[in-house]
Amino acid sequence: MTADDGTAGADASLELPEPVSDEADVEVDREQDAPEPEELDEETRARRDAALRFVRKLGDPVLRATAVPVDRFDDELKAEVQRMGELMQDALGVGLAATQIGVLHRVLVYKAYVDDPVVALVNPVLEWASEEMEPGNEGCLSLPGVHVEVERHAQVRVRARNETGRELELEVEGFEARVIQHEVDHLNGVLILDRISREARKEAMRAMREAREQPHESVPAETRSADAA
Ligand code: NI
Repeated sequence: MTADDGTAGADASLELPEPVSDEADVEVDREQDAPEPEELDEETRARRDAALRFVRKLGDPVLRATAVPVDRFDDELKAEVQRMGELMQDALGVGLAATQIGVLHRVLVYKAYVDDPVVALVNPVLEWASEEMEPGNEGCLSLPGVHVEVERHAQVRVRARNETGRELELEVEGFEARVIQHEVDHLNGVLILDRISREARKEAMRAMREAREQPHESVPAETRSADAA
């Protein structure tokens, strides 16, 4: 939830944390129903599946790494942002952080509402967050099948640049604030699993295991349908 950019320069080495035990099998009861599968037409599903193959999943150490600030606003960055936006949309996500595709740049894209354009935030810093917290349902493209309730600040103010280097300052609330907090977490190696109770985490791991066994039955993560606004 903090926006700690660290002191890293472009050559900062990866911070690879201890191997996570996220994938340890846990036995939990199966009383709770799995989420309803979402009906997608074949083409949409094929495009989503293709996009999801580029998204790193839990267990990949890059998801636990801290991304480094971007210092060059060049065509390469524009291309990166463009590609992230396309992948996010193809994957039916509402947000994507560069770390999720294995790029350790402090870059995220999001599109919280259907009619909004894709917004890119480069080197985002949460300058302020409301004391008021709000629970809400979240999924994650890196955690297929997982949907959990996460507490987030109801409002945040974010300073960032866009892909051309222009300074942005956003004051946002509700679902948009939630998506940004989720993606900034990714840039700091933090996942929604870290923001829930041990019990909820066990349940999430079960859901993810089931989604892995039946990839087509799972609702994609970070999707609008899975997120309560
Ligand atoms: Ni995510």
